[in-house]
Amino acid sequence: MKITQTTFCCFLISSVVNTCYSAFHPFIFIPGDGGSQVEAKINKTNSVHYICAKTSTDYFNIWLNLELLVPVVIDCWIDNIKLRYDNVTRRTLNTDGVEIRIPGFGSTEPVEWLDPSRASSGAYFTDIVNALVKLGHVRNQTLKGAPFDFRKAPNENQDYFVKLKQLVEETYEANGKTSVILLAHSMGGPMSQYFLNLQKQSWKDKYIKCLVTLSGAWGGSVKAVKVYAIGDDLGSYMLNGKVMKLEQITNPSLAWLMPSRNYWKMDEVLVQTDTKNYTLDNIKDYFMDVEYPDGWDMVFYKPGAFYDNPTLINGDGDGTVNRRSLEGCKTWSSKQRQKVYDLALPKVDHMGILKDVNVLEYISNLVNSL
Ligand SMILES: *[C@@H]1O[C@H](CO)[C@@H](O)[C@H](O)[C@H]1NC(C)=O
Ligand SMILES: *[C@@H]1O[C@H](CO)[C@@H](O)[C@H](O)[C@H]1NC(C)=O
Ligand SMILES: *[C@@H]1O[C@H](CO)[C@@H](O)[C@H](O)[C@H]1NC(C)=O
Ligand SMILES: *[C@@H]1O[C@H](CO)[C@@H](O)[C@H](O)[C@H]1NC(C)=O
Repeated sequence: MKITQTTFCCFLISSVVNTCYSAFHPFIFIPGDGGSQVEAKINKTNSVHYICAKTSTDYFNIWLNLELLVPVVIDCWIDNIKLRYDNVTRRTLNTDGVEIRIPGFGSTEPVEWLDPSRASSGAYFTDIVNALVKLGHVRNQTLKGAPFDFRKAPNENQDYFVKLKQLVEETYEANGKTSVILLAHSMGGPMSQYFLNLQKQSWKDKYIKCLVTLSGAWGGSVKAVKVYAIGDDLGSYMLNGKVMKLEQITNPSLAWLMPSRNYWKMDEVLVQTDTKNYTLDNIKDYFMDVEYPDGWDMVFYKPGAFYDNPTLINGDGDGTVNRRSLEGCKTWSSKQRQKVYDLALPKVDHMGILKDVNVLEYISNLVNSL
C-alpha cells in the first residue's frame, strides 16, 4: 500500500454541546488490534513441541514478548495464543489448558506499552499519554485505559462493552461529573462506534464529550484479505508473516476487519491471481481457496489449492488501512447533527500517528482551548 495519508477525526457525541474543544475532560484510551498487553496461564496436557512448557505457575506476558517470537519457540507461542473456532456456536475457544486475560483494565499501563518491560518496540499510546500529562493530566485518574481481547470481534466482546460503560461512569464521577473523551486508534474506532450505538442519546449527552479517532478502520482494510493468504510480519524483519499467519487467521477480529460492502464495490478486484480474481462478490471462494473456510463463517456479511504470489490491489492509505476506510468518519457529517471534524495527515502511517507531533498538538489543543 502506498502511504499517502492517515486520518484524525473528532466526533461530537453529546447533542448538548457545540464544540469538541473543552478543558480537562478525562480521557479513556481504546486501542486497536494488537494494542494492549495480553497475559496467559497454561496447564496443558499436550504441547506442540518438546521444548514448549506445558504449565506456568502464574500468568505471564504473551503478546509481543520478543523472546517468545523466535524460531521454534514461536510454535509454542502460536499454540498458546491462537483461537479455535466452533462453527456451531460461532464462538472461539482458547487452546485446551490455556487461560488468556487482558491485564490492567482502567489503567493506562497496558495500552501505553504492549510489553510490560517497556521495550521501545512496544510503545503504543505512551507519547500521547505523556503529552497529556505535561498539560496536567494524571495517569489512572484523568487518563484511563480500556483494553479488550483484540483477537475477538464485538460479538464475543459483549462483556467489554459493559465494563467500558462502567468505566465511563466511574471516570465521570471521579472527575467532578465531567464528561469523558474517548480516544481510539485503528480498530478501536469501530469498536467505539459499536459501543456508542449500544447507548441511549441521553446517556451519551451526560457522559461522553466526544470521540477522537486516530487512523480509524471504519470500513475495514484490504490488508485483512492479504493476511488470510500470506500473513503479516507486523512490520518487523525478525518475524515471518507465514508463521504469524497461523495465529492471525484464527482471530475473528481479522474477519471483522475485512473490507466493508459500504466502502468497496461488490465487483472491485481485491486479489488478482493468474486464473482468478477475487472480489466481495466471490470472497467465499477466496476463503475456500486459502483453505480457511472458518474465515468465511466468521465474516459477518453474507451475500447471498491457493495460487502462489497473488497481487493485492491496494491503492493508497496509511500502510494498514485504505484511504476510503480511513475517511469513513467523513460520512458521519451527514448522519448526525453533532459536528465531525476530520483532518488528513499526509505521509503519516498507521502507527506513526501515535507519535506524530501534529497529532500530539491537536490532542493538546482539545485540552487547552475552551
Ligand atoms: C492442571 O490440570 C490438571 C488436569 O489436567 C489438574 O489436575 C491440575 O490440578 C491442574 N493444575 C493447576 C495448577 O491448576
Ligand atoms: C463445521 O466445519 C466442519 C469442518 O470444516 C464442516 O464439515 C461442517 O459442515 C461445519 N458445520 C457447520 C454447521 O457449518
Ligand atoms: C496505574 O494503575 C496500574 C494498575 O493498578 C498500576 O500498575 C500503575 O502503576 C498505575 N500508574 C500510576 C502512574 O499510578
Ligand atoms: C482480473 O482483473 C484484471 C483487472 O481488473 C483483468 O485484467 C484480468 O483479466 C482479470 N483476470 C481474470 C483471470 O479474470
